[in-house]
Amino acid sequence: MSKTDKRIFLSPPHMSGEERTLVTECFDTNYLAGVGPMIDRFEKEFCELTGHTDAAALTSGTAAMHLALRLAGIGEGDEVWTSTLTFIGGVSPIMYQQASPVFLDVDPDTWTLSPQLLEDELSRAAAENKLPKAIVPVDIYGQCADLDAIGALAANYEIPVILDSAESVGATYKGRHAGKGADVAIYSFNGNKLITTAGGGMIASDDPGIIQQARYLSTQAREPSNHYEHVTFGYNYRMPSVCAAIGIGQLGVLSDRVAKARKTFAHYETELGDLPGISFMPEAATGKANRWLTVMMLGAAASVEPMEICEALGARNIEARPVWKPMHLQPVFRTARHVGGDVSEELFQRGVCLPSGTDLTQEDLTRVIDIIKSVLTSAK
Ligand SMILES: Cc1ncc(COP(=O)(O)O)c(C=O)c1O
Repeated sequence: MSKTDKRIFLSPPHMSGEERTLVTECFDTNYLAGVGPMIDRFEKEFCELTGHTDAAALTSGTAAMHLALRLAGIGEGDEVWTSTLTFIGGVSPIMYQQASPVFLDVDPDTWTLSPQLLEDELSRAAAENKLPKAIVPVDIYGQCADLDAIGALAANYEIPVILDSAESVGATYKGRHAGKGADVAIYSFNGNKLITTAGGGMIASDDPGIIQQARYLSTQAREPSNHYEHVTFGYNYRMPSVCAAIGIGQLGVLSDRVAKARKTFAHYETELGDLPGISFMPEAATGKANRWLTVMMLGAAASVEPMEICEALGARNIEARPVWKPMHLQPVFRTARHVGGDVSEELFQRGVCLPSGTDLTQEDLTRVIDIIKSVLTSAK
């Protein structure tokens, strides 16, 4: 690796400048931790963006999923059905609740939970009286799952839908913000996301009672009393004010960030999409993806494996990664049930996530594209 090559990350934090002013305000007012006006403002502005009735800011998307599952009453032995093509942060909380994840395959046209497969499985499970206690579709890489179709199926059996929109802040589905319309939606503001709070998450719903309970559980389930009184146990999951301040600044530039990520995707597609065997993640007709990460597919005609691309870029100080390894292939879930999986396996075997940071310069992009072109052409 040449030391002169500037490091290009997959998706680094991209501050607007306003965040620093807002964080300074936290210092000036001494509201740094889990209460204060910044948290209230961040939640309010997030609800204005998404259309949710209420939302609670938390320490991570994983924490948000944990609270969502607990509040849905998920417990030992309950089945929770989710998409196998996902990141473990949305799945580990199923284990925290001692429940059983079941992994369903995705639709090849959207890479999100297949409504057809879900329909078939639900009717089979209903016949056996083994319905899941919750369904967790995933808005993957900023692409929204078909929530109306999934929601209608779930409603038939009165199963709650908890939408994992961790990667999809700023994406829309039928004109609504990602997650809006689910019983509960969760979001991540981890450092690698399109917008970040350094680390953080959000749980949101149109049922204010759920969010009130989430705030209560996220602050150690303290009863309203002068001494510390607990009738149940909670968690230390509340977002600190300094993180909320960063989040407010980031919300201010979200539409710019989505526009830039989409432009980057389009640029890669224009430059590389006509090469043999190369294609890009499709966009569902039902929505507008935020293109958090640009994902390129290497078909047989490309004669190149994703790892060859990752290694060639890595040798020049550029970060790239394979598509998420499906959960049903993870050793930790070897005993979990899965339904289908071929589509997700193929995406894992053939897909590469390319540098997609919203601060990428034209020069950076050209550097990445030139390296990819040289790997593809030398393979011939
Ligand atoms: C699909 C998905 N679910 C859940 C999470 C967990 O979010 P966090 O990292 O904020 O805990 C992430 C990402 O990080 C994710 O990509």
